[in-house]
Amino acid sequence: MARQPISITEFFSTELPFVTEFRRLLQKISEIKSEEAIKTILITSAMLSEGKSTITSFLSLVASKQKHMKTLIVDADLRRPTIHKYFALKKERGLVEVLEDGLIVQEAIKHTSVDTLDVLTAGRSTAHPAETFDPDAIERLLNDFKFYYDLILVDCAPVLPVSDPMLIAGKLDAVLLVVKAGQTRKDVARRAVEILDTVDTRLIGTVINNMTNSLPYHYNSGYYGYTYTPDKSEKKAEDRRKKNRAPASSAPPSKKDRHIRNS
Ligand SMILES: Nc1ncnc2c1ncn2[C@@H]1O[C@H](COP(=O)(O)OP(=O)(O)OP(=O)(O)O)[C@@H](O)[C@H]1O
Ligand SMILES: [Mg+2]
Repeated sequence: MARQPISITEFFSTELPFVTEFRRLLQKISEIKSEEAIKTILITSAMLSEGKSTITSFLSLVASKQKHMKTLIVDADLRRPTIHKYFALKKERGLVEVLEDGLIVQEAIKHTSVDTLDVLTAGRSTAHPAETFDPDAIERLLNDFKFYYDLILVDCAPVLPVSDPMLIAGKLDAVLLVVKAGQTRKDVARRAVEILDTVDTRLIGTVINNMTNSLPYHYNSGYYGYTYTPDKSEKKAEDRRKKNRAPASSAPPSKKDRHIRNS
């Protein structure tokens, strides 16, 4: 018998250790000075498989479950859509049907088991994603969504291989670039930032994914958490390490310091 797919909402808990990082990320976003609150955020990366859909999903869960924000995920990655898998939803009757067939959004938007979290899946597969991907139509949709949602996260294709994210990046309030620690090369990440900077986008930060598995322990804020109770010798060593280390900044990211950590 085939196993039923399980939604990420079933095993997500606000007690998971990395949730703090997502909460911090939302806090940083809310602190960014802007004329209007940042509501629509494009999540992209330089290359494939850096964790865009994973980060989008967890960020949406923390926003909706813990911050009680009415949240919508839009799967705008028409080339490699996966959000429906994370939430165990049907892919069809989603963004493609809205853009190509004029399906009304109320019929396309799917509810999840979290009251405050909805998903617009990518929709049926399309042979010509570049033609279906209509930036102006997507902008109109997003503007309508702003009326109903506090936060709209748009999961999109990566910047270097295709132009999709660049076509809509300037139409959203902000862009987050996901970088996978231990995988994304520095020059590749830099190139993605350069490309994003060529259009009128608001790149508000870089989310470093997979830090715990790839970077030294002191990058992991969980290490400093209050669940950790070191013995005296460890405590002394920790104090020495902390003394030699600049304190973690809680200020909103500036153009120069646009790194928001995640695990
Ligand atoms: N921090 C992490 N720890 C462990 N596995 C991870 C982590 N982040 C992502 N993954 C895994 O890596 C794979 C790719 O992640 P994901 O689908 O989120 O990337 P993506 O950037 O959306 O990929 P694509 O470019 O195909 O859209 C998935 O199997 C996901 O479960
Ligand atoms: Mg993806």
